[in-house]
Amino acid sequence: LPTTSDRRRVLDLPVSLDPSLPNQAERVHAVLRTAIVDGLLEPGLKLPSSRNLAEQLGVRRNAIVSAYEHLASDGLVDARHGAGTYVTERMPAQSPAAGRPRIGTREPSRLPFALGQTHVDRSILRRLGSATRQHIVSASGATLTYGDPRGSAALRDQLSRHLAASRGVRADPECMMIVSGTQQAVRLCADVLLAPGEPVWMEEPGYYATHQTLRSAGARLVPVEVDANGLDVRSAMGAGLPAKAVYVTPSHQFPTGVSMSLSRRIELTEWARAADAWIIEDDYDSEFRYSGPPLTALAGLASDRVIYVGTFTKTLFASLRLAYVALPADLVEPVVTARAAQDRFPPRFMQDAVADLLADGTFTAHVRRVRRHYRKARDVLVETLRQSAGDALAFDVPEQGLHLLARLPDGLPDEAASRIRQSAGVEAKLLSEARLERRDGDGFILGFSGHDLKALTAAAHRLGSATRRYLAG
Ligand SMILES: Cc1ncc(COP(=O)(O)O)c(C=O)c1O
Repeated sequence: LPTTSDRRRVLDLPVSLDPSLPNQAERVHAVLRTAIVDGLLEPGLKLPSSRNLAEQLGVRRNAIVSAYEHLASDGLVDARHGAGTYVTERMPAQSPAAGRPRIGTREPSRLPFALGQTHVDRSILRRLGSATRQHIVSASGATLTYGDPRGSAALRDQLSRHLAASRGVRADPECMMIVSGTQQAVRLCADVLLAPGEPVWMEEPGYYATHQTLRSAGARLVPVEVDANGLDVRSAMGAGLPAKAVYVTPSHQFPTGVSMSLSRRIELTEWARAADAWIIEDDYDSEFRYSGPPLTALAGLASDRVIYVGTFTKTLFASLRLAYVALPADLVEPVVTARAAQDRFPPRFMQDAVADLLADGTFTAHVRRVRRHYRKARDVLVETLRQSAGDALAFDVPEQGLHLLARLPDGLPDEAASRIRQSAGVEAKLLSEARLERRDGDGFILGFSGHDLKALTAAAHRLGSATRRYLAG
């Protein structure tokens, strides 16, 4: 920012005099006045001598002298005899409210039950740090310039192997793209696939962040109920609801936790092929399965129709902002073109560093290690809720993932869940907040990963007791 110091003799301020003002003195006065009032010239700052400033601005020295006098009579500068001219120290403080933006989206809470928390130990951070540093210090030509908008070839290659081995998805690295998070992937797909107002089937209840993303992309969200087998494809077809795309979390539905049955998966892909529609598969937490074999991703069944999206938010941590998309071949060109028109790709060296972690087994070992933590956190949560809530909260023990859905009994007033949440002092999202349409039966979406176990236990106690108290009237 512009400053002058005793040693500097000119203003660092880009000064442009307004030629519409009648004379040089008024032009200089106007520009300095604005700079002082806007705080660009700080209180107490010494202004250049009239001779120096006159030289700098290419105006007569007298014009500077009268501008300084005018500023002094405004009370904006103090002329100290023999010592120069200073921006006044008596400037009224700027009203803090005036310039401060109001931001609706805040930093999310990290209190117990907040989602988006993970267990990250120092060893993985050190490894990530040294890999990143190594890529930066050895960077040269190709890695220092704009690169392929699909992102790091090394990371795409590693992810392609990872998906084949752990998710049953055969994704050609040529058809993969690295993005800055699941929502960016969803947004890009919406931009490419949907005309304004075009309908998209959305799991009901479903992921609220995707609601926002699709809405802001101009899509019309069509709620389709989720039952014990996942998205009810036939009911949507039976109701004659057309759609150009559908967003699903088939491996572990958010927030109910059900996994989509094979027959539903087949119905959905058959529908998509017949309707020339696209399936966006958000496979956000499949690495964390606590028992039974991992389920194959939907993209393994219908790679021609499924846009597969995975993320490092759960496996590593949210601030990494790295996610990946495996695209059907027909969509690579339009989606990558849309991506290139944005920021091209996430920071290159971070992508390459994560590729190293995948290549040398660090990533897999980390996931295995944290899975044990999460299983323990899940068990503690389940046990504490059972004790404290009894049958006031109904839930299935999640076999996968990092959250649990605890349901309240039907028939309570609309505000019951938020009252209980408030009285328990917890951060849980509500089931009703994940719905597009109002419906009876609310509940709590309880994230259990990445929280201190004692704090988690205490919060589960408070939630259980608050629920009981509420139900007891
Ligand atoms: C359903 C679902 N999808 C995706 C994500 C991850 O999103 P992102 O990759 O944008 O961090 C989450 C994180 O909580 C989620 O719950």
